[in-house]
Amino acid sequence: MPTITLTAGPIARARNGVIGKDGGLPWRLKSDLANFRAVTMGKPVIMGRKTWESLPKKPLVGRTNIVLSRDGSFEPQGALVCEEFTEAVGIAREQAEEDGAREVCVIGGASLFELALAKAGRIYLTDIDAEIDGDVTLSPLDESLWREVSAKAYPAGEDDDYPFTIRVLERR
Ligand SMILES: NC(=O)c1ccc[n+]([C@@H]2O[C@H](COP(=O)([O-])OP(=O)(O)OC[C@H]3O[C@@H](n4cnc5c(N)ncnc54)[C@H](OP(=O)(O)O)[C@@H]3O)[C@@H](O)[C@H]2O)c1
Repeated sequence: MPTITLTAGPIARARNGVIGKDGGLPWRLKSDLANFRAVTMGKPVIMGRKTWESLPKKPLVGRTNIVLSRDGSFEPQGALVCEEFTEAVGIAREQAEEDGAREVCVIGGASLFELALAKAGRIYLTDIDAEIDGDVTLSPLDESLWREVSAKAYPAGEDDDYPFTIRVLERR
């Protein structure tokens, strides 16, 4: 049976650790959104309730959307709800197996990234080359635990506010 890898991300992070502001993203990076779509397509994605609410179009099409919430009355249209992270990962793994997907992606926000980083085999990380004001941050990664397997720098394109580097890290 092929192994299914739990991934943290795609995560987009400013130099100062900011990942969000006012319930959304404090930047416009069209090229990174394209990367997000390409990486996650066909795979189950797990997200927190606030990230779900931040999506302009819900659910993310072509992907099983799993939303974590402790609110038993929360009923997102087009997504599964779980009250516990481990339960969400279990359901996502079963779904990935059924769909022939090789990864389950945890797509945020901050507390879900922290939970995923403890268990993930891979991180999809977009390092944005700017300090950006925001209200949701991620703690610095302990990069000694991870091996960079790819890194590609992108200059700020026409629809990108900042230059950024898309990196893939695997657990050592
Ligand atoms: N830059 C990026 O890569 C990226 C990615 C994703 C999101 N974001 C940004 O981050 C912000 C949202 O993130 P956030 O950290 O504030 O919120 P979040 O993680 O998306 O959602 C938090 C909510 O998820 C539920 N939850 C979290 N942990 C749980 C657990 N262990 N068990 C059960 N339920 C759990 C709770 O929902 P209930 O309150 O319903 O119980 C909690 O209030 C937005 O600004 C968004 O745009 C950025």
